[in-house]
Amino acid sequence: MIIKINRTNNGKSFIEELETQLENKKTVLEGLQFIKEKKDSTLTFRCGCESGVCGSCAVKVNGVERLACKTKLNEGDFIEPLSYTAVLRDLVVDLEHEQKVLNKSHSFLHQYQESEITNEDEKKIDRQSNCILCQSCYSSCPVLEVNKDFLGPYALTRALRYVNDKREGDEKSIINNIQLNGVWDCTLCGNCTLVCPQFIDPKSDIMNLRMKSVQAGYEDPTLQNFATIGNEFDTGFDPTGGFNPSGGFDPSGGFNPNSF
Ligand code: SF4
Ligand code: SF4
Ligand code: FES
Repeated sequence: MIIKINRTNNGKSFIEELETQLENKKTVLEGLQFIKEKKDSTLTFRCGCESGVCGSCAVKVNGVERLACKTKLNEGDFIEPLSYTAVLRDLVVDLEHEQKVLNKSHSFLHQYQESEITNEDEKKIDRQSNCILCQSCYSSCPVLEVNKDFLGPYALTRALRYVNDKREGDEKSIINNIQLNGVWDCTLCGNCTLVCPQFIDPKSDIMNLRMKSVQAGYEDPTLQNFATIGNEFDTGFDPTGGFNPSGGFDPSGGFNPNSF
């Protein structure tokens, strides 16, 4: 079985075709281990638990973020490192980046308050607490392509986890810290939700955080831009309560371009 790997060594990237000589039903991780043991000991990748628990083996397989230890290997597969994080070597990306993103989002406990935690309280944070920080969602997010400062899905999911935690006495600080390059920059495309191996739904978590931001007094900055555009451009809408026919609409049956 021939597979292709996007390798990086000393800052130079190249695509290499390698043969695994493995029968069917093996995982991508087993393919990588076979190559390292039998073909090329310099091939570098991360793995820990080998059972989908630690998140360290996340890579892109044919362009989609997957856990190497939970993904079946197929003829011709193309394996690459995750996107938007510096590649240290071959399939290994810089984990310090993850720590920086989490620090920037302030998605951690700020002010511990003693509380009795019921089963219902636990359910509110259970799903988000299952994040294994594999970074698959971050790598799949199209916003990072144009805005490297965007906090990204796992940091925002983690922010919601602490906002919803009864033991957090200062959830306002977390909400404050996810306004800039945070909740309002997401396009709600849902890629992050599709690739998460833990079935977490960062897209819904971000929508939830937007609602909590509005409740905390923030508003969607794109709505402010829309209001500004409305002042410069005659849309025909009369804010006093009706439609202004001289504002672009021709009651004789057409559109009046002279009003612009
Ligand atoms: S839903 Fe938002 S955070 Fe998730 S991948 Fe799309 S843009 Fe990124
Ligand atoms: S939210 Fe899912 S995809 Fe994102 S880091 Fe956590 S476990 Fe991985
Ligand atoms: S090696 Fe731990 S999740 Fe794959």
